Amino acid sequence: MKSKITFFCKECGAESAKWIGKCPSCGQWNTYVEEVITKTSTTKRSWGAENKGDKNIPISISEIGSEPIKRINTGSAELNRVLGGGLVRGSIILIGGQPGIGKSTLMLQVALYQKSNVLYVSGEESAEQIKLRADRIRHTNPACYILTETNVQTILQSAQKLSPTMVIIDSIQTLESPHVESTPGSITQVRECTAELQRFSKETNIPVFIIGHITKEGGIAGPKILEHIVDVVLQFEGDQHYAYRILRTIKNRFGSTDEIGIYHMEEGGLREINNPSEMLISPEDSALSGSTIAASIEGLRPLLIETQALVSPAIYGNPQRSSTGFDLRRLAMLVAVLEKRCGLPFGQNDIFLNIAGGIKVADPSIDLAIIAALISSLQNVHIPKKWCFAGEVGLSGEIRPVSRVEQRIAEASRLGFEQIFISKYKSDSVKHKKFDVKVTVLSKVDDLLTEIYR
Ligand code: TYD
Ligand code: MG
Repeated sequence: MKSKITFFCKECGAESAKWIGKCPSCGQWNTYVEEVITKTSTTKRSWGAENKGDKNIPISISEIGSEPIKRINTGSAELNRVLGGGLVRGSIILIGGQPGIGKSTLMLQVALYQKSNVLYVSGEESAEQIKLRADRIRHTNPACYILTETNVQTILQSAQKLSPTMVIIDSIQTLESPHVESTPGSITQVRECTAELQRFSKETNIPVFIIGHITKEGGIAGPKILEHIVDVVLQFEGDQHYAYRILRTIKNRFGSTDEIGIYHMEEGGLREINNPSEMLISPEDSALSGSTIAASIEGLRPLLIETQALVSPAIYGNPQRSSTGFDLRRLAMLVAVLEKRCGLPFGQNDIFLNIAGGIKVADPSIDLAIIAALISSLQNVHIPKKWCFAGEVGLSGEIRPVSRVEQRIAEASRLGFEQIFISKYKSDSVKHKKFDVKVTVLSKVDDLLTEIYR
């Protein structure tokens, strides 16, 4: 048995014989950690005579059959869509997310919705704890087998015997491989265990879901290499204090990475939200100042989201700026644009911004709705609930066009909105089309003020 001390970069997995302050491969500072590696067996590599007669020989690409990929229904339409149409046999899927977000719940639900053998491996919870969770979900599958084990070899032996439709590992950070001798959760262990799981899934054609914890910085714990090994990387996100959860594709070898799935955490587990726009808009009809609707797009789906702003005089010296679900610096930029281009006095006011449902929005088309909410709260004017907005705002106050504007208009009209505001630029394509919703074009933020006071 040979053991040696090696240093690994936490970010990219680069290896070094000594500690280094700055990783030469990814350029990050202070990311090297020490690990003891013990390899029990060293495989001899040989290209010599004994390898003759090996069945695994190169084949011509034209001889490879191209059967359509067979996919397994996971029982959840949202998850199926995020995976690109279902679970591919022999694939390996990594699900990351913060503790308590609902990763174990989602996976247990998948296991319980199947009608065939499923192996659910937990290194974190006891079988009784999992049973308690299953009781809440109120769906049962007698062929769902629970294994509380952390040794990857033992797990794979059980999996081979059971021959399940899928294996679920909760979580990769608890597994250990007897081949390497560092603590569970360390980079070497995580990497080795994932590699063994991958070999298993490719050889048996049984798909494996791996749950992975997320580090403080938001990456999946363990090196980035993990993301290279697996076929699909999903991220389960949401605010712990809100019940909405978004499942996002980070990488997908069998489908698009633009898809998202939306869930709602309830007493009986995660419920799918098929009609997200209707959920994210508060139902009361009366318009309140500071509240507007943005016609945004998340993934490939249009999503109408409510944005709320509260602008009020600062009582204690320094005005506060606070934002939930939207970039604070971008908010500062939008406020500066309103001050400079429209002469609106935000200076001595506290500004609070909130995106409904605890959702984080990266789509810049939400700018226009935020600007409208800010104006509405500052000047205490109501913006009709039947209006919605889709436009990016530039530094000189111009309203910029956004992608797939027709899709946004269609969603607004489907949900019964009366008016949608978009950019004047590149709006020719929608000019001649008929929609049930009135389309108003704006070229700069002043135009928005005119519309509000019309
Ligand atoms: P869990 O799946 O344990 O999260 P993770 O595996 O990502 O750490 O989910 C934990 C939260 O979900 C917990 O706060 C309780 C809540 N929950 C419900 O609200 N309803 C349910 O039916 C279940 C099973 C959990
Ligand atoms: Mg869990």
